[in-house]
Amino acid sequence: MLLLTGATGLVGSRVLRRLTAARIPVRCLVRDPRRLGPERVRVQIALGDLADPPSFRNALRGVTTVVHLAAAIRDQPRGSIEELNGIATWRMVQAAEAAGVRRFVFFSALGASAHDRTRFLRAKALAEEAVVASDLEHVVVAPSIIYAPGDVFMTLLSRMAAIAPVVPVSGSGRAEYQPIWADDVADCVMALLRDDAAPPPARNRYELGGPETLTYTQITELLLRAAGRPRRLVHVPTPIVSRALRASEAILKSKAPATWDEAELMEVSLLTARGVADAQLLGVEPSPMRAVLKLDDGPAC
Ligand SMILES: NC(=O)c1ccc[n+]([C@@H]2O[C@H](COP(=O)([O-])OP(=O)(O)OC[C@H]3O[C@@H](n4cnc5c(N)ncnc54)[C@H](OP(=O)(O)O)[C@@H]3O)[C@@H](O)[C@H]2O)c1
Repeated sequence: MLLLTGATGLVGSRVLRRLTAARIPVRCLVRDPRRLGPERVRVQIALGDLADPPSFRNALRGVTTVVHLAAAIRDQPRGSIEELNGIATWRMVQAAEAAGVRRFVFFSALGASAHDRTRFLRAKALAEEAVVASDLEHVVVAPSIIYAPGDVFMTLLSRMAAIAPVVPVSGSGRAEYQPIWADDVADCVMALLRDDAAPPPARNRYELGGPETLTYTQITELLLRAAGRPRRLVHVPTPIVSRALRASEAILKSKAPATWDEAELMEVSLLTARGVADAQLLGVEPSPMRAVLKLDDGPAC
């Protein structure tokens, strides 16, 4: 049995479709099974929450492989970014060891560091430490920014562009990424899982990036073009963004359309010197963003 967390997310939903198509027995740790869509009838469901580590024990019963994708880039009513990413992963690792799990695949992020300016990347660094220090056969996957046509970010941009002639960008927009398509990432996960009985993968850290290096501004422009709503971007100084988003969070709570923690992440470059090499090691040739978004080959800006 394989336990998949984050099965309702951008990457997890694609991994889940591939797992069920390959008839691999899957259990999903989910907060709300309805969010699994039609796949929910093809999997075992373990109701659980990153904010409720005791729920992990039941989810891990009889499990040999864990793919831990669930994560949160904003605080939730039941847990902070640090609790949901750092402490929850540590508790998941402990529960996996106790349950006799053999293989643990953990999704971190490029740039995860105990010294990063963002709470999320500091929490991911803590989580990575817990995974690496465990007795489990483990793989840490560290991706750059992951996208797909119609994903949450593209939808948010498209909605903003629908009501305004300009779209605000937090800060300089100069942070750099190697955007990788969620389907390519899901293919990498499947390659990591191939043949459950095989010895551990040759490496235990894979850094996943796409074939291009693009700034946050360029990515935003491409997504707006792909949504059919090209707009002029207006760079808003980060102190103003921070104050505005913190005020909107104070009023709207978890319904806030964006948070300062999310905006701050867009100030941090997520790059790997390995480029597409690790994806290629897994037999995946990451697609360029323009091809995935079905844009012509014109310049990004
Ligand atoms: N997307 C990127 O650009 C990017 C970049 C670097 C690293 N990563 C990492 O890659 C992994 C997959 O990312 P993704 O983009 O697929 O994430 P995503 O689309 O944001 O999905 C997050 C998943 O985590 C689940 N989740 C959130 N809070 C939870 C909680 N309290 N309890 C249980 N489940 C919870 C969500 O379930 P609900 O349906 O219940 O909300 C959802 O399935 C994550 O670990 C992420 O940190 C992503």
